[in-house]
Formats: sequence, structure tokens, C-alpha cells
Amino acid sequence: MKAYKSKVVSPIRLPDREEREANLKQAGYNVFNLDSEGVFVDLLTDSGTGTMSESQWAAMMVGDEAYAGSESFDRLREAVSDVMGFERILPAHQGRGAENVLYGALVEDGDYVPNNTHFDTTRAHIANNGAKPVDCPHEGALDGDRAFAGDLDVERVRELADEVGEERIPAVLLTITNNSLAGQPVSVENVREAREVADELDATFVIDACRFAENAYFVREREDEFAGESVADVAREQLSYADALVMSGKKDGLANVGGFVALRDDPDLDDVHAEARERAILYEGFTTYGGMAGRDLEAMAVGLREAVEESYIADRVGQVQRLGDLLAERDVPVQRPTGGHAVYVNAAEFLPDVPREQFPGQALVCDLYREGAVRGVELGSFAFPDTDRPELVRLSLPRRTYGADHLEHVAETFEKVAERRDAGDISGLEIVEEPEMAELRHFSAELRPVGEKEAPTAN
Ligand code: F0G
Repeated sequence: MKAYKSKVVSPIRLPDREEREANLKQAGYNVFNLDSEGVFVDLLTDSGTGTMSESQWAAMMVGDEAYAGSESFDRLREAVSDVMGFERILPAHQGRGAENVLYGALVEDGDYVPNNTHFDTTRAHIANNGAKPVDCPHEGALDGDRAFAGDLDVERVRELADEVGEERIPAVLLTITNNSLAGQPVSVENVREAREVADELDATFVIDACRFAENAYFVREREDEFAGESVADVAREQLSYADALVMSGKKDGLANVGGFVALRDDPDLDDVHAEARERAILYEGFTTYGGMAGRDLEAMAVGLREAVEESYIADRVGQVQRLGDLLAERDVPVQRPTGGHAVYVNAAEFLPDVPREQFPGQALVCDLYREGAVRGVELGSFAFPDTDRPELVRLSLPRRTYGADHLEHVAETFEKVAERRDAGDISGLEIVEEPEMAELRHFSAELRPVGEKEAPTAN
């Protein structure tokens, strides 16, 4: 049950079918090109799209906009210390800014960086600094009902070290929850194992803590050792093993923008801190604001504390589970158990007649918009060309934003898509135009239904 009520509302509108059809065409069958005004339920991402509390808005009014030594920075530092247990922070404009600051200080040309699974921007920043990102999830992690499918396979990290030499592995990363692996959680036992392997390799142990509160909730619910503990205590415990954190405040910071790097106050990390500080000033801004307004530092400071409140987090994860249940009841193939922030649908199974080369995930995303102005995102062969990732569509729930009737609308939209599928009315898509960088093509490529020869009209 929601432990809040609405005080500020934002009107949304369900465009009629004709308009939706025209919008889709105009967008080149790429939902990143849609105007949000034409979207009824927006499940594109949970990043920066949530609703802030009255306490966050109130805190924004006392934001100290000083360039150096801002009081708002002190309040953020206190919140990070209380909630996450880290004393040294470098704010950044968002998570990827923090990644650039830290990974540029940690890795060099020719290095290898293992992670349970790299999120796109993590992968890009590691690669951009000359190192090779290596995904080390457990083989077949998503098969069956694993309680902690997001875990890092530490044996694979050891094998990598044997192969490339441990001096080539400057850092071991752990992303909680594991966004690129269906948002699945990571156990504290696995955090401890990751710490151990990092020690063996004399590597820095970094946690990507974007969804640390959601992960802590799963740990409390599923890992015996933590039964009955508070999510706030588990949150600190799981992070206590890391040398450094990378954080996007747009997720479990419950803010619309912002992020930071946090470093343990340990003399062994002084060099990394010094280099990261320089990079922060160069790329983000002075170290007491890091590309954020003082008011945004305030919003994130309050948001971090709210993220580990029991009433908030139970409702948050519960809502994602409810959406998963609503879809499963309608025979939509969803990843079970559901993750913390999103429901992942296997589009290849849902649309078996659309071949992989015609992007079943993107076809499903387009039809969800066509049938109900619902916007999800494809995370299959369209977003990740030349990989063998499953054809997933992600439906991410913004925090504290939608209600039960919106979830019902999404479920009903799936029913309509299933009817069109059964009538043989859903066609695959082909790419008409794509950018040079294949990794970024899903943000801007244009497509058309297979067989349709008309030129795209976007932009
Ligand atoms: N790490 C993880 C695990 C993420 O999920 C994201 C963002 C980032 C880093 C980068 O943070 O967006 O603040 O720069 N994920 C968003 C998503 C974009 O939709 O999953 P950012």
C-alpha cells in the first residue's frame, strides 16, 4: 500500500489511436523520438523520472548556491555518511559523470575490469579509458528462480586474472541491483566474496550503488542472516565492504538529477582520491557542487534518507512485483522473480513470429505505444547489436509516480497487443537510418515496418 498521497499532480492524456499511429510513424518507430506529451504511461526509465516528496521540495528552498563550501554540500555529505557509511564524496551531475571521474582515475590502457554485468554507460566509460569491461554473471543466471540472480561469479574473475595477469585488473566492480541482468539483486554473501577476490588481486572494490536501497530490501527478504533487520542497516552493511561507490542520485537518491563518487577514508585510497578530485574539477565542477545546483544537492540528501524508509521501499518493490504479476496472469512471459525497478518481458517468446533480425523487442515496444500509449524500452538485439542477449523489453517504474490503475492500463495494453499478435497483425521492423556508433543506435536510429517502403519522417 502506498504510504503517501498526491499533493501536486501532473496531467497526462491518452491520445487516440490515429494520433498514436501518426506519432509512431513520425518518431521513425523509435520511442526515444516521441514527445512525452503523447505518452500516457511512461516506463522508459526509472532514472530521474520519479516524484519528489514535500520534504525534498522544502529542502530545495534552502539550497546554498555558493560555488565553494556550500552548506548544501555538507548536508549531502552527512546524508551519505549516515545512509551509506562513506565519508569522502565528489558530487557529479549524474551517474555517468561519477563513472567518468572514478574510472578515469582507476584504470589504464590495456586493463581489464570485471563486473557482475556492466551497465551501458559503465561499459562505455571503462572502454573510453582504454580498459576492457568484462561481464562475469553466473552462467544461466536468469534460468530458474534464483534469489540472487544478479550475483558476480567470482570464479570467472579468478579465471580472468589467470588469463590476463592480476596486475591488469585494477578494480573489481559490483552493480547492485544488476540493471543489465533484469534488475536482479546481489546477496551480501556475494558482496563479501567480491571483496575477497578484490583483496586477492590487490584491486579496488567498487560498488555501483544506483539501486542500493532496492537491493537491501531484497537481501532483508531473502538472505537468512538479515531476516528481521532494517533496510537501513542492511543498506549500510552491504556497502561497508566497498572501497568506493559510484552513485546516480536519479535512482535511489530519489532525485531528478545528480550523482557522486564516494571513497572510503583510507590512506591507501589517497592517490585515487587526489586524481579523482582533479578529474571532478575538470569535468564536473568544483568539488562542493560537481555540476549540481545547491538545491539539487539538498533534494538528493533528503532523498537518500527516504529511500531506506521501510514504508517507501516496501511499496516501491511491491509495485514492481504487482506489475509483474498482472502481466504473468495474462500469460506475458516476464522474468521471475521480478527485479527491483522494472519488469522485463521476453519479446521473442511473446512475439514468436517476428524473427530476431526484425527486432521482436522493438516491435513489441512499438505496439505497446500503438495500443495504449505505453512507453517501454527495447534491450535486445536492437539496443545491443552483435551480442547474444535475450530479446528483452524493460518496463521501468518511476518512483512514487503511477498508481494501480496505470498498472492495469499497462496490463490491458498487453492484452490488446496479444490480440493483434493472434490476428497476425504485428510485423517486424527494419532499420532505415542509424548512427555511426553501433552502441548508441537505439537512441537515434529510425526504422519502419518490414514491407513498408515509405521514407521515415522523423526530424
Ligand atoms: N549505473 C547503472 C547501474 C545505471 O542503471 C545507470 C543508469 C548508470 C550507472 C548511469 O547513471 O543515468 O545517472 O548517468 N541507468 C538509467 C537506466 C539510464 O535507464 O537504467 P546516470
